Amino acid sequence: PTQLAARAAYLLRGNDLGTMTSAAPRLYPHMWSWDAAFVSVGLAPLSVERAVVELDTLLSAQWGNGMIPHIVFANGVDGYFPGPARWAVRDLAADAPSGLHTSGITQPPVHAIAVQRILDHARRRGRTTRGVAGEFLDRRWPDLVRWHRWLAHARDQQEHGRITLYHGWESGMDNSPRWDAAYANVIPGDVPPYVREDQMVITDASQRPSNVEYDRYMWLVEEMKMSKYDDIALNSTMSFAVEDVFVSAVFSVACDVLATIGEEHSKPHADVRDLRSWADRFRAGVIATTNERSGAARDFDVRSGRWITTETLAMFAPLLSGGLPRDTERNLLRLFDGPRFCGHPDFKFALPPSTSPVARDFRSREYWRGPVWPVITWLFSWAFGRRGWTERSLMLREEALRQASDGSFAEYYEPFTGEPLGSMQQSWTAASVLDWLG
Ligand code: DGY
Repeated sequence: PTQLAARAAYLLRGNDLGTMTSAAPRLYPHMWSWDAAFVSVGLAPLSVERAVVELDTLLSAQWGNGMIPHIVFANGVDGYFPGPARWAVRDLAADAPSGLHTSGITQPPVHAIAVQRILDHARRRGRTTRGVAGEFLDRRWPDLVRWHRWLAHARDQQEHGRITLYHGWESGMDNSPRWDAAYANVIPGDVPPYVREDQMVITDASQRPSNVEYDRYMWLVEEMKMSKYDDIALNSTMSFAVEDVFVSAVFSVACDVLATIGEEHSKPHADVRDLRSWADRFRAGVIATTNERSGAARDFDVRSGRWITTETLAMFAPLLSGGLPRDTERNLLRLFDGPRFCGHPDFKFALPPSTSPVARDFRSREYWRGPVWPVITWLFSWAFGRRGWTERSLMLREEALRQASDGSFAEYYEPFTGEPLGSMQQSWTAASVLDWLG
């Protein structure tokens, strides 16, 4: 284990561009929003100072409206598509920052979790380190609250207690079969020509989204540009709009985590009160989607008015945010443990696959259509620990460390064979390992 931790630390140093860590060396050579949050979780045990720098860089790219963009582009780095020219946010979006280049969409709000981990580590260190973390919190508290306020207002305009996404990439689970039906209704118009850089890095096409999918991804970017990335306009113009139950659960937890941090550090009472009210609203919003017997949650396709029932990780959203009746929660945990998910008899490790192996749309090697993502295991393990399910949390950690012992720090793994897939040297995979071993 010491050796694995050393290798993970070495990996993060290798991916360190100075004030940001690239999500992965070649496939993702910039900073991604939720990657950056997890990366700072992994940096915290190595250096609280460096972890704080990571979040500072991300937050310095925050938009005027409060959105944290899904990519902050590294200066002078090419080799990723769509890059700054394609997003064109500085030409079109009134809210885009002027000092640096970003994308024009967002990603799951896991940042408060990272702040909590950083403060935890700082507490155990000396006075100087505690000072660094405390100053960070004072400096960035208003930005963190602004970020949450934007999600609660701009992305839940009807106050359903669920976050609306306008691009599958905003879910972080880009090509999950959850989004297939919604994407089927996206009819690409004139998409300016493009070259997929990702296929030059990952040459096995079966591990990445298809070209048909990419045309839709790119068309949605064009639609956003036509609406100038305006929060109100997007709500009516985008041909893709879904309520993501998993992101909503993450948001609920993140609001509670941030509220607790606020209380412990004497932040404005009004902010804390708002955060708690969003935590409650989104917890209830998640519960409202669940099946009465199984407890499984569902996304909602806003454009077609249909519930999305694909068997994926999204079903387990209420395990993160809580609020299910005891018996129902037990049923959902049984589903999580059972043969439709972690407990499939032929799985190499008892870990949650991105899509159920018995689902029609399951693909064992393809990105979010089946593979196991270590960072998602981390998120469940963290959330289970937080809910007081210590043994479950440790079991996931144990299995994930066995999976990671191959030393590839892969982006995702084939569930039956344990083959590492996608990008190797993925920063957030190393970060998960560091937190577990830290
Ligand atoms: C990619 O490029 O595949 C990313 O996941 C988009 O954010």
